[in-house]
Amino acid sequence: MCGIVGYVGKKRATNFLIDGLSKLEYRGYDSAGVAVENDGKVTVVKHKGRLSNLSDDLDKNVLEGTVGIGHTRWATHGEPSDINSHPHKSSKGNITVVHNGIIENYLELRKWLKEQGYEFKSQTDTEVVPNLIHYYYEGDLFKAVVKATERLEGSYALGVICGDDPDKVVAVRKDSPLIVGLGEGETFIASDIPAVISYTRNVYLLDDNEFVLVTRDGAEVLNSDGSKIDKEVYKVTWSADAAEKGGYDSFMMKEIHEQPKAIRDTLTGKISNNGVSFEGFNLTKEDLDGVDRVYIVACGTAYHAGLMGKVAIEKFAKIPVEVDIASEFRYREPLVTNKTLLITVSQSGETADTLAVLRDCKKIGAKTLAITNVVGSTISREADNVIYTMAGPEIAVASTKAYTTQVVVMNLIGMYFGQLMGSLTNESAKELEEALTLLPEKIEEVLAKKEELEEVAKILAKEQDVFFLGRGVDYALALEGSLKLKEITYIHSEAYAGGELKHGPIALIEEGTKVIALLTQTKLREKMVSNIVEVKARGAETIGVAYEGDEIDESVFNKIVRIPKVLNMVAPVVAAVSLQLLAYYTAKEKNFDIDKPRNLAKSVTVE
Ligand code: F6R
Repeated sequence: MCGIVGYVGKKRATNFLIDGLSKLEYRGYDSAGVAVENDGKVTVVKHKGRLSNLSDDLDKNVLEGTVGIGHTRWATHGEPSDINSHPHKSSKGNITVVHNGIIENYLELRKWLKEQGYEFKSQTDTEVVPNLIHYYYEGDLFKAVVKATERLEGSYALGVICGDDPDKVVAVRKDSPLIVGLGEGETFIASDIPAVISYTRNVYLLDDNEFVLVTRDGAEVLNSDGSKIDKEVYKVTWSADAAEKGGYDSFMMKEIHEQPKAIRDTLTGKISNNGVSFEGFNLTKEDLDGVDRVYIVACGTAYHAGLMGKVAIEKFAKIPVEVDIASEFRYREPLVTNKTLLITVSQSGETADTLAVLRDCKKIGAKTLAITNVVGSTISREADNVIYTMAGPEIAVASTKAYTTQVVVMNLIGMYFGQLMGSLTNESAKELEEALTLLPEKIEEVLAKKEELEEVAKILAKEQDVFFLGRGVDYALALEGSLKLKEITYIHSEAYAGGELKHGPIALIEEGTKVIALLTQTKLREKMVSNIVEVKARGAETIGVAYEGDEIDESVFNKIVRIPKVLNMVAPVVAAVSLQLLAYYTAKEKNFDIDKPRNLAKSVTVE
């Protein structure tokens, strides 16, 4: 999704603007631009394509000025092009805007603004915003921005500058993330903390409908009537290194290697002699007894972690759970009441559909629990209860450490609910505790053998279609393995439950089709092997992922990837690392940009 930055300070604004945008590249983008104000004149430079197109231009054509805004655009309305790139300027006057989000009533506003004599150059929804602000501008930029936003429907984080009201940036957010960085003699705005972390650790996390007046002396957070909001300064605790590659060739590889630590950090403080507990958690046995249904709702990889959550809660707490995709859940008529427990899973804590589900369910009075990785994210602030995955910043578009820590948390929630309901035996609790605690070292073992997956990747890189099969939690893992592969290698891939194969998908199997079979569920292993025999008989080339030491008829497989033996319930965490490495090496073999796969954005803040 789009990235926004803004600067008011004493140094050349483009230095921060380009650096800040580079830290937001992970969000995904197809063009980039800046606007800089200098002596009342605003200059806009923008280019389709990579940020380097913009920075190369600015190296040659230096823009002086200490006030500016910048943007990386992930196209929604209008193709990626120089014209559609942000910043957008009003056709009259000097108002210049960067925007993340979607203005839903832009057609109506565009028509009305044209009647008022404004002209439009781009196909974007955003271009109505500077024109609307100009329409209301009477010498006070803040007031004009407030008036304009009263007419906007949809989602927006905006950064606005004006040559006639210099030395400030006015910003506002509604349903799109925005933070303010508070430096010494310089103040920043950005879509996310990594953009400002090398400059300051003191930030304001803006809430919806909060406006901010950014100057060299700091930032005033204001209500729409101009009254001041006493905003708490949030101190960022992680270091700038966390947002750097640290010697790896990509953030994805770095993040794959960070999983042992991420899991250790996620477990810290949550397991003790008294079992599982979560800080600040207010869900009691009475609450659970009174719950009419439990929904887990999320998108993409987080949804796959949610599928694991269903198995864990049903197994340990004997409470039925439904799992749904947020964009589907919000538009059907789910049976949510004030007795429902909604669990949302979101790495970023900003995903538009997941956030919308949380808000809809809260309106009905449902109890809400969020699992998220980002402290201060909108979802973490709005849910009644929050459990943080302690994965640290995840920059690569393809989620790795966030997923495995989410699966760990799902198991912990299952255990916790099982404790409350009295349905978790001491023996199971102990067994699971041990298995979770051992995960970091088991993952190290997978990482130590990563070259083996590099070899398998050489085979996959030549394919156009790959199938993943699994049963039980291995099916949920198959979905994740398949998503990872298609995201970064652009190989078409499907995941099926082993038992479903005969009900249609087996028609796709032909000579040489690659099938990856997950065999970590001991009780289901023989059934999976039968499924593999069936595809092999139809010409498939099969790759198995199985425990070390498990006796398996090797003749059924062209290749077996062995993973360390762990408790079945946590096996997806260990096996996921192999599948992540497989996707990574396949993308590398194909020479693709692993951290920034085409068409994808990290934080999907529009629906
Ligand atoms: C895939 C991936 C996405 C996200 C999805 C939800 O690797 O990262 O599928 O899982 O966009 O994002 P969050 O977890 O931030 O809500």
